[in-house]
Amino acid sequence: SVYDDQFIASKAVAARIAEIIRNKQKSGETTVLGLATGATPVNVYKELIRLHKEEGLSFKDVVTFNLDEYYPMKPDAEQSYVTFMNEKLFNHIDIDPKNINIPDGTLKEEDVAKYCMEYEAKINSLGGLDFQILGIGRTGHIGFNEPGSAPNSGTRMVTLNDLTRRDASKDFGGKENVPTKAITMGVGSIFKAKEIVLMAWNEKKASIVKKAVEGEISSDVPATYLQLSNNVEFVLDKEAASLL
Ligand code: GLP
Repeated sequence: SVYDDQFIASKAVAARIAEIIRNKQKSGETTVLGLATGATPVNVYKELIRLHKEEGLSFKDVVTFNLDEYYPMKPDAEQSYVTFMNEKLFNHIDIDPKNINIPDGTLKEEDVAKYCMEYEAKINSLGGLDFQILGIGRTGHIGFNEPGSAPNSGTRMVTLNDLTRRDASKDFGGKENVPTKAITMGVGSIFKAKEIVLMAWNEKKASIVKKAVEGEISSDVPATYLQLSNNVEFVLDKEAASLL
């Protein structure tokens, strides 16, 4: 879907998330959400906070899994995705902190593989993700699945692409300070979600959106894998959709 601007689009995405949560609550079920960081989902989170404060939407029975985290990364660092999520969403809603899952950037390297398997097993044990939010990086990454990622890849440690690190350099005060690695849910893990929404705003995303939506399916642009799924919706503003 193409919307006039990201604010209207974000409200629509938040409304869908709220609908899922409320429907599940009626039957006493837990909602499992896959969440993303970056500038893209910020207005979805703002709207969810508004729905919580003004319309009584409760997150008490919501469990969340974030897509990724830099590695290494301390949770209380300014640039961590833990800090991001706390500031943009979790501090403002009634979610139970023990229901929040974000990949751990403090692990010893030899413990990462086992941790990743457990992260994925935990999602599966809750019945899988009901809804997954995605942004898209200019390399065509989803989560931190950079070019070269396989369609069936699982949660794992990855090496960040140079362009990705350059795009993150502002947050870290220089590219040299951006971690070279990250822990990310895999393309295969993302694909298991019952509903996936990839959001993109602004002109600077137009060319990668065109590749993702219309380009040949290839590991060169992992977001093209989304063409293979029929439960994916691209939610775009006019500028991001301008080359389609
Ligand atoms: C980071 C995140 C991705 C996100 C991307 C785009 O790399 N790991 O999940 O989609 O940035 O960021 P932005 O939304 O700021 O454009």
